[in-house]
Amino acid sequence: MELKNQTAVITGAGKGIGRAIAEALAAEGVHLGLIARTASDLESLKSELSEKYGVNVFVHAADVSARADIEAAIHTLHEQLGAIDILINNAGIGSFGKLVEMDPDEWEQIIRVNLMGAYYATRAALPFMIEQNGGNILNVASTAGERGFATGSAYCASKAGLIAMGEAVMQEVRKSNIRVVTLNPSTVNTELASNNNLPIGDEDRMMQAEDVADLAVSTLKLPTRVFVKSAGIWTTNPQ
Ligand SMILES: NC(=O)c1ccc[n+]([C@@H]2O[C@H](COP(=O)([O-])OP(=O)(O)OC[C@H]3O[C@@H](n4cnc5c(N)ncnc54)[C@H](OP(=O)(O)O)[C@@H]3O)[C@@H](O)[C@H]2O)c1
Repeated sequence: MELKNQTAVITGAGKGIGRAIAEALAAEGVHLGLIARTASDLESLKSELSEKYGVNVFVHAADVSARADIEAAIHTLHEQLGAIDILINNAGIGSFGKLVEMDPDEWEQIIRVNLMGAYYATRAALPFMIEQNGGNILNVASTAGERGFATGSAYCASKAGLIAMGEAVMQEVRKSNIRVVTLNPSTVNTELASNNNLPIGDEDRMMQAEDVADLAVSTLKLPTRVFVKSAGIWTTNPQ
């Protein structure tokens, strides 16, 4: 399916996987609304993508964990873009530590950003999709949501919650021609991984943000009669 002239809002678009998805969608001719907290990241991506691909790019600095912030961002971007055909719930943070040792504020913040943030953004964008009787929501969860590991209680819980929320909302909206897709990457070469010293195996064979973006675009290009409910993305690189 042709994506040209569709519109997409991407959270966490300033860096890493979100940035790579923004570029991959711009290359398909998709007009973009970009969200992250750091305005300078969004502004530089906006100039780069609008110049290189000739698409409209709007930006809105917002924290997905603050409901009023993210609702305002989604509503403003909807007005600027004229529609939201695609919502990419990608914004996420990760830090790791034993359950009893991690500061409860840090534990809760991971849930607030990774799970509540996706809920707030979905809740704000979904009525537009229901009204237009079509759309795509793509959640970037993680293999950490499929299987717990020591020191990952907050991160694994946030991603398991996102996977479950995605499946539940998918059942609510599939009859409105809205597809909800959840991608579950294992370790990807981004700041989130390097800041946490995640195990990476051979650095030159690590999965790249662009690989996840390629899969995101491929799933969105499937005929609207089908969708990928969830996909694990692994590397052949032994870790
Ligand atoms: N890297 C991996 O190994 C890996 C594996 C599986 C899944 N994932 C998931 O993939 C997603 C993207 O991760 P990444 O590796 O690309 O991370 P990254 O390079 O650290 O980029 C994260 C992006 O999200 C934004 N962000 C963080 N907190 C935010 C908030 N509260 N509100 C709005 N934006 C926020 C960041 O910008 P600001 O700081 O400016 O807001 C940044 O643009 C996350 O959901 C992550 O859990 C990553």
